[in-house]
Amino acid sequence: MRKLAKVLALLLGIVLMLVLLGFGWASVRASQVMARSFETHSMPGPTGASLEESIERGSHLLDARYACRDCHGSDLSGGTMVDAFPLGTILGPNLTSGVGGVVAGYTFSDWDRIVRHGVLSDGRPALMPSVDFTAMSDQELADIIAYIGTLPPVDREVPAPTLGPLGRVLVATGRLPFSADRLASRTDHPAEPPAAEVTTEFGAHLAAVCTGCHGQDLAGGPIPGGDPSWLPAANLTMHQEGLSGWSFDDFARSLREGVRPDGTPLRDPMTLALPITGNMTDTELEALWLYLSGVEPRPTGT
Ligand code: HEC
Ligand code: HEC
Repeated sequence: MRKLAKVLALLLGIVLMLVLLGFGWASVRASQVMARSFETHSMPGPTGASLEESIERGSHLLDARYACRDCHGSDLSGGTMVDAFPLGTILGPNLTSGVGGVVAGYTFSDWDRIVRHGVLSDGRPALMPSVDFTAMSDQELADIIAYIGTLPPVDREVPAPTLGPLGRVLVATGRLPFSADRLASRTDHPAEPPAAEVTTEFGAHLAAVCTGCHGQDLAGGPIPGGDPSWLPAANLTMHQEGLSGWSFDDFARSLREGVRPDGTPLRDPMTLALPITGNMTDTELEALWLYLSGVEPRPTGT
């Protein structure tokens, strides 16, 4: 008996030591991953637009297309991306011109770097996911910057992101993807968005912000880099596992009221997209539907 107890104690000690070593390795590795430096192109912003129109378009873009407020707060003075102990505390910083705001002195290139490449102004990879913004045109980015410049300053210091043990392990093992790895070297930004008309082209432009969760081919499945507790995303193709039985009115209702045709509510994390889809114009919803109707139908997650 005593011998058995000794063996067990020894085994337990070994396991504990391995776990500690593992965490030590993960912490060191995660710091290395996050200290990497990325180069992005530098670019002048578009010129010649009327500031007034730009601000108006920017306001609609933040309401109905790009979900900056999900993480930067409704007044953009700071918000929460993730705040769950083992994962970490990842807050969206203050984008207003108040004390604690981070964008004072930002050039167009700095905005481009964080929003469309996932790279912080000092070159390190951001935790902010930029994959949803890769289709954003120069004009839209300029419009967003113009609109953000009109926001009332809010004084609010937002602490820098900190990763918990699980967050570090995910970063160290490459399970928490960094947008910078995919996007840092891209230079193919469109200059202008497609005209706001019911066309496949405009629909595809709008659907780009759904691909981060619903997948590049919009067939749904597990959400890459998402909170492990998140439901898989639904299939948005016209496959029988997707939207094949839906009418346009079903689609419009789901995005405006957050309910499926059978009346059941759409659940987390689709609720993150609903404040945006709920503000889409009729033209935007129709263009999106037209585009989805033409996407190749696939079984979920393929
Ligand atoms: C899913 C959450 C999320 C969304 C959506 C999001 N951000 Fe961020 N953003 C963050 C986090 C977290 C940071 C903090 C820095 C980091 O990522 O490591 C950040 C940082 C920033 C910064 C400061 C970068 C720096 O160098 O310190 C700017 C500017 C910014 N975001 C603008 C935007 C704009 C504009 C949008 C919408 C087009 C947007 N963000 C959408 C989470 C988000
Ligand atoms: C943050 C992740 C996320 C984003 C962004 C997102 N979705 Fe979703 N969506 C989901 C998840 C998860 C579900 C499944 C929810 C459920 O089962 O209740 C879903 C469900 C749906 C449904 C219901 C489908 C069904 O069969 O029940 C529709 C329609 C939909 N999304 C459309 C969109 C569109 C259009 C966009 C882009 C404008 C979008 N979603 C952006 C995560 C997301």
